[in-house]
Amino acid sequence: MPHQTSPHTPHLHSQVLTVSRAEREQLGGHAGRVVWLTGLSGAGKSTIANALELELHHQGKRTYILDGDNIRQGLNQDLGFSDADRAENIRRIAHVARLFVEAGVIVVVAFISPFRAERETARALFSPGDFLEIFVDVPLAVAEERDPKGLYRKARAGQLRQFTGIDSPYEPPLAPELVLATAQITPQECVQKICRLL
Ligand code: ADX
Repeated sequence: MPHQTSPHTPHLHSQVLTVSRAEREQLGGHAGRVVWLTGLSGAGKSTIANALELELHHQGKRTYILDGDNIRQGLNQDLGFSDADRAENIRRIAHVARLFVEAGVIVVVAFISPFRAERETARALFSPGDFLEIFVDVPLAVAEERDPKGLYRKARAGQLRQFTGIDSPYEPPLAPELVLATAQITPQECVQKICRLL
């Protein structure tokens, strides 16, 4: 996959890596893929990501999880929750995910990733079939009822601004590879559906 130059990097030349993606995948015994989980806070993205990774790990597959709450404490600690910062959050993560796919790893991305445009830009970094967009779909009322981190309560009380679903938008995918209605099915059933897709 070609790299893109930008006005900031006019004098770069792509270096061809001697060990190819195909050779890395052959060594690992499976293909690199992105499982991109998108949905509201409290939809179940992290739960599904962890259950999926455990299952794939038991199958002998090489995996990693990129989770919004974790990445925002390190690589993306300079970013907040404005529309622009969320877009940059997703742009960086899409590129990190691409590195994992090139390394032959199944990378599970668990970010709200609320905007269609950024998810489509992320998808465009990958060859068809390498990027699986999975909508972890719960009604806002269910996510708010679960409120595992107490953040909806804070948002409703006006103590937390720009909270997704309350005063910041979430744009559901129009054509995801899979929809998981986590109010109706268990995390284990979600994992089985994703494994079938993989
Ligand atoms: S994204 O919108 O930019 O994709 P991301 O997945 O990285 O969001 O981070 C979401 C996590 O940050 C939530 O699970 C929640 O724990 C925390 N968080 C803190 N403030 C907000 C906010 N204003 N909106 C959404 N999530 C928030």
